[in-house]
Amino acid sequence: MEETTCECGNKIKYKVSDIKNAHRLMCGSSEEPKDLERLMDGKIVKLIFTSAPYNMNAGLYENYKDNLASQEYIDLNLKVIENVKKYLKGFLFYNLSYNRNSRWQFLEIFYRILKESKLEFLELILWDKLHGMPITSRGLLTREFEQILVMGDSESMKEDLELFFLGKNDRGAYFNKKSQKGISNLWKIGTNKSQQKNLLACFPIALPMKAILLMTARGDAVLDCFSGSFSTGIACERTFRVCYGMDLDPKAIEISLARFTKLTNRKITKYEDNL
Ligand SMILES: C[S@@+](CC[C@H](N)C(=O)[O-])C[C@H]1O[C@@H](n2cnc3c(N)ncnc32)[C@H](O)[C@@H]1O
Repeated sequence: MEETTCECGNKIKYKVSDIKNAHRLMCGSSEEPKDLERLMDGKIVKLIFTSAPYNMNAGLYENYKDNLASQEYIDLNLKVIENVKKYLKGFLFYNLSYNRNSRWQFLEIFYRILKESKLEFLELILWDKLHGMPITSRGLLTREFEQILVMGDSESMKEDLELFFLGKNDRGAYFNKKSQKGISNLWKIGTNKSQQKNLLACFPIALPMKAILLMTARGDAVLDCFSGSFSTGIACERTFRVCYGMDLDPKAIEISLARFTKLTNRKITKYEDNL
């Protein structure tokens, strides 16, 4: 395995880690085109599956404050979409919801992604977390679900999806003809025990895995531009896909490497820590 440690142009120090000679995990910012260029190295992915920072200032991360002003938070999301879009030929699954610190911003972000990204709208999936979390909901209703915006480039929508019809009526619903799976818009996946010490915002592996199995084939590449504890990477490993992950927080990278080893039972080489 190669060993790489380098610095990007914007003064963020980062390391690049290859896991199992395939996945790539980088400590850097998805807001920075240069960081993404470095991570992707020309690779195009079939799926972007990611969960944006909550912006709820609840101490969920060690080195990321998660407390942007309203407009900054909106701008962050839109900038990242703009940056990652050029590495996508396929589908975007963008998980975002409201929190006590950003109550309505997800509405503007979704609306502007729809209007500005030039991707086509497929659906808004409701992810039923099978519990309510008061910490995220102070002054709001108890939040039991989150939204996942699903979009795709028009070519992939045509190539991969087709309408299937039940009987002779014309109530066609989308079906992924490559994975041979229908796609429902209500996903009931509990977060039981998926939380990591020092990174409480992580999602259950089953969540990215569901999207991966629906929308990609073996060997396809998947990007998680807010990779956190690398749940998407572990789902990729288990399904023989290749994951490209980016997170701003060096602690998240450390947690990712440990979690990857623990959950995949695979001894991985950890690069020297010299952040
Ligand atoms: C909701 S968490 C993602 C959790 C992840 N889905 C998991 O399963 O662990 C959001 C992550 O975004 C990271 N983050 C915030 N701003 C970022 C940026 N500009 N570029 C990359 N990552 C960023 C935070 O450090 C945090 O780990």
